[in-house]
Amino acid sequence: MQLPFTGPWLLAPMEGVTEPCFRELVLERNPPDTLGGAFTEFVRVVSEALPAKTLRKHLGPRRFPQPVGLQLMGADLAALAETARRAEESGAPLIDLNFGCPAKGALRGCSGSDLLRDPVRLEQTVKAVKEAVESIPVTAKIRAGYDHANDVEILARAAEAGGADLLTVHCRTRAEFYSEAVEWERIARAVRAVSIPVCGNGGVRTHADLERMRAETGCSYVMVGQAALGDPWIFSGRSVGAAQAADFLVAYADLLAERSGTRPARVTGRLKQLLARWTAGGLVEDEERGEWLSERDPERTLVRLRAAMTA
Ligand SMILES: Cc1cc2nc3c(=O)[nH]c(=O)nc-3n(C[C@H](O)[C@H](O)[C@H](O)COP(=O)(O)O)c2cc1C
Repeated sequence: MQLPFTGPWLLAPMEGVTEPCFRELVLERNPPDTLGGAFTEFVRVVSEALPAKTLRKHLGPRRFPQPVGLQLMGADLAALAETARRAEESGAPLIDLNFGCPAKGALRGCSGSDLLRDPVRLEQTVKAVKEAVESIPVTAKIRAGYDHANDVEILARAAEAGGADLLTVHCRTRAEFYSEAVEWERIARAVRAVSIPVCGNGGVRTHADLERMRAETGCSYVMVGQAALGDPWIFSGRSVGAAQAADFLVAYADLLAERSGTRPARVTGRLKQLLARWTAGGLVEDEERGEWLSERDPERTLVRLRAAMTA
């Protein structure tokens, strides 16, 4: 099935980060021939299908040339399938299935990375969702394995056999969590094992890494997670100044406050999540990072950012 992505690089689903406000700002700042698509945070389906209203909230109010895939995670196949059907009806351009979440809650519910130990169940999960939707692609996102990466081919083939239209391989195993070291060769192994397109993921730090991962592994798409929190322009490779970098953060704070009435303390919490990794525009020098992060007064952080916008 034709994938709706407009370019080769994708913004990863990140819980607590890629809600509509952050996503929109990133989508706006990267042309669609570079940043080809994004994903919602994972949406957990427990024992009942989620209402369309919840799904629409995750998809957000604005549309961009790039598709935003709705990521679902769950173990109850009937509830998952019905949620996917409702998501298609609500305008989701693509459903992504999470088989990588390492959180204990996901494991207790036999979902997320737990299914890396059960390729048969993984295949059945993809199949159930694939059969529930009519005309949108279903993609699967796995880690390279649970506690070892010996079976990445088996997992990749299970997703393909279930009918996945694209497979994203986060090259760390669940046991490796978010380790610094990454082995892209595991992505290459998945590429060789299946005939569906593969999206490589894990350890991209710079714009140049995007093309390098594609060349080294043969994957068709590359997904960026953590590095996009520090440099939202990583997809286009545009180098911005401190003023533009500060403008992003102020726009993010404004949007969070106005859109969802997020309390000032929570807004700064979200800002600090980005400031902890921020590299764009030389706005946050390493020796100043501690100072930015320890600021308790939300207003003072904003005043400092606004000053940087005009400096
Ligand atoms: C804060 C955070 C939240 C995440 N939430 C999700 C999620 O909701 N769904 C998912 O499939 N992966 C999630 N991930 C994993 C990322 O999508 C990605 O696979 C991982 O960060 C590896 O890519 P990177 O090395 O470029 O960061 C999350 C990662 C981070 C850092």
